[in-house]
Amino acid sequence: MILSVDEIFKRKPLNRKAIVRGWVKTRRDSKAGFSFLIINDGSTIKDLQVIADKGLSNYRDQILHLTTGCSIEVIGEIVPSPGRGQELELRADEIKVIGWADPEDYPLQKKRHSFEYLRSIAHLRARTSTFEAVFRIRNCVCYSIHRFLQERGFIYIHTPILTGNDCEGAGELFKVTTFELSSVPTIEGRVDYEKDFFKRPAYLTVSGQLEAEAYALALGKVYTFGPAFRAENSNTSRHLAEFWMVEPEIAFCNLDDCITIASDLLFYLMEMVMDECRDEMEFLDKKNKVTIERIKSILEKGVSHITYDEAIDILKKSKRRFTFTPEWGSDIQSEHERYLCDEVFKGLVAVTDYPKDIKPFYMKLNPDGKTVRAMDILAPGVGEIIGGSQREDDYDTLYGQILEKGLNPNDYWWYLELRKYGGVPHSGFGLGLERFLQFITGMGNIRDVIPFPRTPGNINF
Ligand code: 4AD
Repeated sequence: MILSVDEIFKRKPLNRKAIVRGWVKTRRDSKAGFSFLIINDGSTIKDLQVIADKGLSNYRDQILHLTTGCSIEVIGEIVPSPGRGQELELRADEIKVIGWADPEDYPLQKKRHSFEYLRSIAHLRARTSTFEAVFRIRNCVCYSIHRFLQERGFIYIHTPILTGNDCEGAGELFKVTTFELSSVPTIEGRVDYEKDFFKRPAYLTVSGQLEAEAYALALGKVYTFGPAFRAENSNTSRHLAEFWMVEPEIAFCNLDDCITIASDLLFYLMEMVMDECRDEMEFLDKKNKVTIERIKSILEKGVSHITYDEAIDILKKSKRRFTFTPEWGSDIQSEHERYLCDEVFKGLVAVTDYPKDIKPFYMKLNPDGKTVRAMDILAPGVGEIIGGSQREDDYDTLYGQILEKGLNPNDYWWYLELRKYGGVPHSGFGLGLERFLQFITGMGNIRDVIPFPRTPGNINF
């Protein structure tokens, strides 16, 4: 019977025959005439020890030449392990070598590799325990996002990847065209889009929010979950040019209710990872040191709520020397976010009511005319992981905001119509999947929680 390593550890089929397939992590030969092979098949981050006796027909010719990265199939018997650290091992009756990995040039060796080096071999790094743990947690988080929202009646919708609008209005758009770059047709010096595929400028989406709003105003509670693309030239440990975002959008919902849903989602995800990925979290905890205790204390603490005004006040009164001086009207920088989460509140913090000039056009204007019903949720170690708001539902105010931000109302005609026909108060938010993963795994660099990171100057895979 073919068994995965996970099934073997869970079912413990002692003294039973099994076929196991996987990749060799290490081989150690004992003087007594047998070898220990440590193999992993990806079904669990736990490794299985295989005992290969010199009596195997291919022991000399093949087994003694197995090295890190080779793939094998082992037919043998599951037996109790006399060694420390593992309950069971597989005593091989037969080992077939499926694929060799020449140790002269196989880029992964038994020694520790730096994350920088592993990024240069992104096609192989999932074979290391750290990345296996991270990507198993990523899978758990994605599944749990769907589960949380589905159980609460949200409808999953697919918003377009190719779009004609700039949702965030920040101009960080990747352009999509079928023009040959060397011969872009122009009329009087301007690009002649009539000749392009869509006959107008087209982009990769920065967010599915605007389209999600259209569906929330029909189906009530919806979410979109997919990739977003931003051409911001930010070479930081928390920015990607392609990242994944879940964006719930809820009709008849104000900002406070929206923060409650966002907080519940975060807590659900933390609990699911702690329950379902215990081995992975324990592994990362040893490596990144802070993870499990931090998550436990955050779960106990809940989310602290402050307004932007209060945040600026705290930052201004702080004795901490910041690179960027906190000032009402300017963005809360990542150093400020971390200070608030890591040192002042020691947990998750929801900051609300930002100045309208530093937020996108679609956020609901407060009666003061200066601030908007925005919220960011900040997490220790990472900073902003969620951005959301109550949406402007008044047609004229929204129209005015589009103009004020220098955008063209014609590009947003359908979005404006949502306010004209049966508009209602509604709210939503976007949770950056990779930012959340950084937070829960303790991985310092966002490039290490996505399989093939895209950052300025880097699309090598
Ligand atoms: O705050 P942002 O820009 O909000 C929006 O896109 C809204 N349209 C969401 C909504 O209300 N439906 O982005 C939301 C989140 C951020 O909090 C962050 O976690 C993540 O997306 N994010 C990024 N993650 C990685 N790399 C980047 N360049 C990111 N930009 C935003």
